[in-house]
Amino acid sequence: MKRIGVLTSGGDAPGMNAAVRAVVRTALHHDMSVVGFKRGYNGVLMRSPSQIDDFEILTARSVSDKIHRGGTFLRTARCLEFVQPEIQKLAVSNLHGLGIEGLVCIGGDGTYRGAEALNRLGLPTVGVPGTIDNDLAYTDFTIGFDTALNTACECLNKIRETSDSHERASLITVMGRNCGDIALHTALTCGAEICMIPEIPWDIEEVADRVKWGVVRGKRSMIMVFAEGALSSLTTDLAKLCQQTPALNEIIPHNNRVTSSQLALIIEKLSGHETRSTVLGYIQRGGSPSGRDRMLATQLGAHAVDLLKEDRGGLAVGIRGTKLIEVPFEDVQKGEHAADAGLMDLVDIMAVISH
Ligand code: F6P
Repeated sequence: MKRIGVLTSGGDAPGMNAAVRAVVRTALHHDMSVVGFKRGYNGVLMRSPSQIDDFEILTARSVSDKIHRGGTFLRTARCLEFVQPEIQKLAVSNLHGLGIEGLVCIGGDGTYRGAEALNRLGLPTVGVPGTIDNDLAYTDFTIGFDTALNTACECLNKIRETSDSHERASLITVMGRNCGDIALHTALTCGAEICMIPEIPWDIEEVADRVKWGVVRGKRSMIMVFAEGALSSLTTDLAKLCQQTPALNEIIPHNNRVTSSQLALIIEKLSGHETRSTVLGYIQRGGSPSGRDRMLATQLGAHAVDLLKEDRGGLAVGIRGTKLIEVPFEDVQKGEHAADAGLMDLVDIMAVISH
C-alpha cells in the first residue's frame, strides 16, 4: 500500500492521539503516506464546506507534541447514518478517489462495525481499540481505560476524604456503558466497600444492609461505586419498594430506572445512614494519557499499520497478556474478557463488612 487513512470515532479516549501518532510515523517508516479524516466517518463522507474540515495529509510534524495530549486532534463523532449501505459505498468511493488503499479506524464497538462494512466492500480496514469502557471482549485492555481508571481513582480519593470527615456514605457513578470494568477496577484500587456493575445481579436492600453493617463495624465512610449501566442487573422491584416505603413514596421509577441521586436517597432511607451521590461524568474521558495508555496506543497503532502493509484487513488489533494480537472483526466480542466474579469477591473481602 502506498497511502492509508486514519480516523478516530465514537467517544474520545485518552491515548487516541498517541495511536494516530504511531500510525503516521509507522506508515512514514514504510514509505506510505497518511490521510487523517476529521470527526470520524463524517470526514470520509466529505460533507463540510471546506475540505480541511474533512481530511488532511498528516506528516511526521502533524503529530508532534501529541503523545501526551488527551482528546483527539482529529476530533471525533458518532455517524449514525453510516449503517446505511449506500453511505458505506459512498465512503469507499471517496477513499478510492483519494488513492487510499487501507484505513485504520480507532474507536470502540460502533467504530468497528463501520470498519467491518468498509472492509466487506473491498477497502481493507484495521480497528484499534480506543475507548475508556474496556468493553471489547477480544482484548485485555482498550486504549483510554487505564487513564480513566486513574482519573476515577483520584476523584474517589478526594470523595473519601470528605465522606470520612462527615461520616457519610457516597454513591459514585462511573462511566462504562454496559461494561463494569471501570467501576470494578476503581472499586478495588480505591478500597471501595461496595460495587455495582451490569454483569453481576445485585439487590438494593442488600446494599443498604451492607452500609448499615459497615457503620456498625466503625467505618467512617462507605464508598459505593456504581457503574452507569448497573441498573440493568438490579433484581429489586424499585416501583414496589418505593410504594411500600413511606419515605420513598415520592420516587416513581420508570422501567425500574431511577437517577443516581434517587438511588442514593433509597439507600439512605433503607440504611438510615446519610448518603450522597456524585456522578463523575466526562472528567473520566479527558486528561493526559497514562504511561500504560501511551504504550498500548503506540504498540497497537504501529501493529495496525504493519498489518495493512501486508495487505491484511478486516482485523482488530489488541493485547492479551503481553502479546499483540489481531482478530477478525466478527470475533471482537468473543473471548475470556467478562466481568471477573473473582474481582468482585475481592471487593467484598477487602471491605471486611460481612465477617
Ligand atoms: O463509550 C464511552 C462513553 O464515555 C461511555 O462510557 C458513555 O456511556 C458514553 O460514551 C457517553 O457518550 P456521549 O459522548 O454520547 O455522552
